[in-house]
Amino acid sequence: MLALALVRWPYPRIVAHRGGGSLAPENTLAAIRLAASLGFRGVEFDVMLAGDGTPVLIHDETLERTTGVKGEVAVTPYRELEKLDIPRFQDAARLCRELGVWANVEIKPAQGHSRATGEAVAGMASELWRGAPLQPVLSSFSSVALEAARAAARELPRGLLVDEVPADWLGQLRALDCVALHCNQRHLGEHEARAIKKAGYGLLCWTVNDPVAARRLLGWGTDCLVTDALKLIGPVFK
Ligand code: G3P
Ligand code: MG
Repeated sequence: MLALALVRWPYPRIVAHRGGGSLAPENTLAAIRLAASLGFRGVEFDVMLAGDGTPVLIHDETLERTTGVKGEVAVTPYRELEKLDIPRFQDAARLCRELGVWANVEIKPAQGHSRATGEAVAGMASELWRGAPLQPVLSSFSSVALEAARAAARELPRGLLVDEVPADWLGQLRALDCVALHCNQRHLGEHEARAIKKAGYGLLCWTVNDPVAARRLLGWGTDCLVTDALKLIGPVFK
């Protein structure tokens, strides 16, 4: 049976990008804590597999930009990543539950690891959020990762991440049994936004840092804005 149509968006409307937007080091526990302390009820973060298969929070396939150390995530065991303050997914999930913060978990596979990442993240998320009042939404640019996530944890809602909305967005959402489309706000038009909502799907836009754009997108029926500008967007639209 298809998961399909959200009658209404049950998740927070404004979500902090990479944990704490531009106010904290990205994809860290400190970032999630900061977002919660500012009153954010939702965060987005990226999850990749370390060399030993441990799901960790990181955006890039390489370590250098965020840690200053050379290396590739996919071949580095967690015991080394831990020294660089890269958190495990399980620790971020527990923190979100403790703080009462909803999570949009972006499955961010390193090249060649799409299936394994989707499977591991979904399987772990299913355990970590068992009995939670609000389940996380798993999203990915990778259709292979989303298929693997569905197979591992069919009950968890999924969002298809895209840069530009593809012409066959409806076919892709149906094929992957997703509840929402997560798109780059730069390329979204009103006609597409309204069509996605009319079809009964959730619509999330990233990364929305301008209050004028935020107002416009919400006016088109967009359900959720992911932002780096926590102090600018958060207080106005929460
Ligand atoms: O999930 C929305 C957004 O995070 C996608 O882009 O590159 O920041 O992970 P990126
Ligand atoms: Mg992301």
